[in-house]
Amino acid sequence: MAKTIAILTSGGDAPGMNAAVRAATMVALAKGHRMLGIRHGYRGLLDEKIAPLEANRVNRILREGGTILHSSRCKRFHHVEHRERARAALTKHGVDGLVAIGGNGTLTGLTLLSDPAEAGDWPVQCIGIPASIDNDIALTGLAIGVDTAMNTIVEACDRIADTATAHGRTFIIEVMGRDCGYLSMTAAIASGANMVLFPEAARTEEELVASMVKTILSVREHHPEDQRVVAIKAEGVPTPTERLKELVDAKLAEVTGEEAPHEDDDIETRVTVLGHVVRGGRPSAFDRLLGSRLGNVAVRAVLAGEHRKMVSWLPPMDLPEGVGTRSPADPYCYLVDLPAVLAATKALLEGQSPLARWRATAFDDLEDVFLL
Ligand code: F6P
Repeated sequence: MAKTIAILTSGGDAPGMNAAVRAATMVALAKGHRMLGIRHGYRGLLDEKIAPLEANRVNRILREGGTILHSSRCKRFHHVEHRERARAALTKHGVDGLVAIGGNGTLTGLTLLSDPAEAGDWPVQCIGIPASIDNDIALTGLAIGVDTAMNTIVEACDRIADTATAHGRTFIIEVMGRDCGYLSMTAAIASGANMVLFPEAARTEEELVASMVKTILSVREHHPEDQRVVAIKAEGVPTPTERLKELVDAKLAEVTGEEAPHEDDDIETRVTVLGHVVRGGRPSAFDRLLGSRLGNVAVRAVLAGEHRKMVSWLPPMDLPEGVGTRSPADPYCYLVDLPAVLAATKALLEGQSPLARWRATAFDDLEDVFLL
């Protein structure tokens, strides 16, 4: 029997969301089912911005950044009475399955929407797809958008490294990631930065300044011909970037006796905040692939009767007992229980999971390597 599947994108957009929308729609339509697009995420669901998605609307969107369905951060969805309205809207439109693409907030909304304690025996099957440049969702190796964001950061760092080298300057480059340092850490390695500052390390302001000054002095000593220093700082580090710059310049002046600002301004640290630049742009080949594969598996999960699951991306391996199952449609994709995703994400963000503990100290042993 033909099913009706609705799809939405919610929270911060991520490059590759369109690939997931496209794949989900094309697989559903090819198998004889109906696809509805909900515009503007949960806000659009409450406002019933729901319309059929046809193949000719999605088949050319693979390379587009952002999301053709638009997005929102819907505070109303925190309240049970609005979720009740959302359930009623989906029922009214004859929806059998809902696919929600987004980050932690989106998956939390989906978990609440489908919570049997709240929804009773409401029959709509709910499947989540992780998409967030922050890579702060647990039980998936990567979320949609991370790879493109990392590439954007690395390209920006390469460009900044050119001018930093020309002037022998220090740059602090602030990157998005909310409370998660993943993007800063991976981009620091991939761009060959001199150092990385991320929230998981939980360094005090003094420690951050000391570490930066140590790196700058080391570069001056070991690389007199190329004194550039590139430090990548995650936005989740509590010390504001401008304040860090001031503190570093003041400490350097104190340690070296050089005045800041110097009569030659090259000595002063520069700050670049990449901000939302990191979230936009055409998705990388990998994000197109990831979005396509997760979108495909999500729709097949609905068709197979799955409910309250997130489609996750993991190398072929066996998950711990009871956490999830490998998708029969794709050995790199798993179906993991939504409440387990939220619990593990909470542990990750609170520094309680083994992965969070590893991330917190991952660079401890590497500081000397970065100084070479
Ligand atoms: O979650 C994605 C993200 O881009 C974070 O990195 C950032 O902290 C936040 O969203 C910014 O949100 P907004 O676009 O609503 O300002």
